[in-house]
Amino acid sequence: MKILVTGGSGYIGSHTCIELIKAGYQVVVVDNLCNSSIESLKRIENLYSCKIPFHKQDVRNQEAMRSIFDQYNFDGVIHFAGLKAVGDSVSMPIEYYSSNVGGAIALMEVMKEQNCRALVFSSSATVYGDPHKVPIKEDFPLSVANPYGRSKLVIEDFLRDVFISENSWSIGLLRYFNPVGAHNSGIIGEDPRNTPNNLMPYISQVAIGNLEKLRVFGGDYNTPDGTGVRDYIHVVDLAKGHVKALQVLKNKSQLMTVNLGSGQGYSVLDVIKAFEEASGIKIPYEVVSRRAGDVSTCYADPSYALEILGWSAEYKLNQMCEDSWRWQSMNPNGY
Ligand code: NAD
Ligand code: UFG
Repeated sequence: MKILVTGGSGYIGSHTCIELIKAGYQVVVVDNLCNSSIESLKRIENLYSCKIPFHKQDVRNQEAMRSIFDQYNFDGVIHFAGLKAVGDSVSMPIEYYSSNVGGAIALMEVMKEQNCRALVFSSSATVYGDPHKVPIKEDFPLSVANPYGRSKLVIEDFLRDVFISENSWSIGLLRYFNPVGAHNSGIIGEDPRNTPNNLMPYISQVAIGNLEKLRVFGGDYNTPDGTGVRDYIHVVDLAKGHVKALQVLKNKSQLMTVNLGSGQGYSVLDVIKAFEEASGIKIPYEVVSRRAGDVSTCYADPSYALEILGWSAEYKLNQMCEDSWRWQSMNPNGY
C-alpha cells in the first residue's frame, strides 16, 4: 500500500513515516520544508535501510501534486502539512488560512480527480476551546479562539461536508492533544526553528543551556498546583494511532473523529519534575502571568480511540521526558 504523507519531514510526520514503514507501507513525502529539514528523512532512511521518495513541494501546487499522484497511484493520504504556531496565526492569518485551509482544499480536489478516497487529517484538541468539563469526549461542543484553531475547525467542517456529499470517502479527523517526546534512537525528534512556544521543547532547551529559564504561564489556575494541566502524548504513540486509523479507514468508508490523547492530565510543574528526574538536570523556572488564550485544563477521554482503532497510548510521562532529553542532548542544535 502506497501512502502519501504531506508534511512528512516535520515532527509528527517523520515519526509517522517510521511507523508506516515498520507496518509495511510504502511512503512518499511531500513537504515544502518551510518548517522542517530533509535531514529527518535521511536519518530514517539510514536507520531503517529504506528509501523514502521525497518531493519538495507545496500542497497548494495542484499541477505538481497531480503529477505526483500520477506517478505513484496512492492508496491513501495522511495530511500533516500546515502551519501550527498559534501566536503567528494571529499576526499572519492570511498565511495560516492559505496554507491550512487552502492546502486542504487543493489536496482534496486532486484526491477527488485521482479517485484516492482515504484521508487522515491532523486536527487538534484546540477545536474544543475551553472545555466545560474534562475528560473531553469527541461530541463536546467545538469553539476556537485564534486563526490557527479556526483553520482546523474550518477544515474539519469542510471534510464533514465532503463526506456528506459523497460517502465513498473515508476520512479520519484525528484530534491530537499535546504531542511530545522523540524516537528512542535519539536521532529523530522535534526541531523548532525559533525559540520554542511549547512546553517540552522549551524545557529541553533550558536543560541544554540554550535558554536561561522556563517561564511558567500562570500559577493561579483552578488545578491541583495552580499551573495548567494538559494531556501529553508520546509522538510515537501518536504515530501508531495514524497507522491504526489508515487500517480502519481502508476497511470501510466512513468519517471518524477521534481523540488521540493519553487520558492523563499533568500540570506544568509535574512535567518539570518528570523532566528533572529523566535528565538529572535542575530546570530553573519562574511563575509569571497567564499566557493569553491558554485554558486551565485539557485532557482527553481516549475511550473511543480504543473502541474504533484498538489504540491507546502506551508511553508514560517519564518516557516522554527521557526521549525528549535524549534527542535534545544528542542534537543540541537540532538537525
Ligand atoms: P511541523 O511543522 O513539524 O510539520 C508540518 C510540516 O508541514 C512541516 O514539515 C512543514 O514544512 C510542512 N508544510 C507546512 N505548510 C506546507 C505546505 N503548504 N505544503 C507542504 N508542506 C507544508 O508540525 P507538526 O508538529 O509535525 O504538526 C503536524 C500537523 O499536526 C500540523 O497540521 C499541525 O497543525 C497538527 N498538530 C500539531 C500539534 C502539535 O502540538 N505539534 C497539535 C495538534 C495538531
Ligand atoms: N507553558 C508554560 N511555559 C512555556 C510554554 C508552555 O508554562 O514556555 C504551559 C502552557 O501555559 C500550558 C502548557 O505549558 O499550560 C502546555 O503548553 P504548550 O504550549 O506546550 O501546549 P498548548 O496546550 O498550549 O497547545 C498545544 C499546541 C496547539 C494545540 C494544543 C492542543 O501548541 O497547537 O496543544 O492540541 F492546539
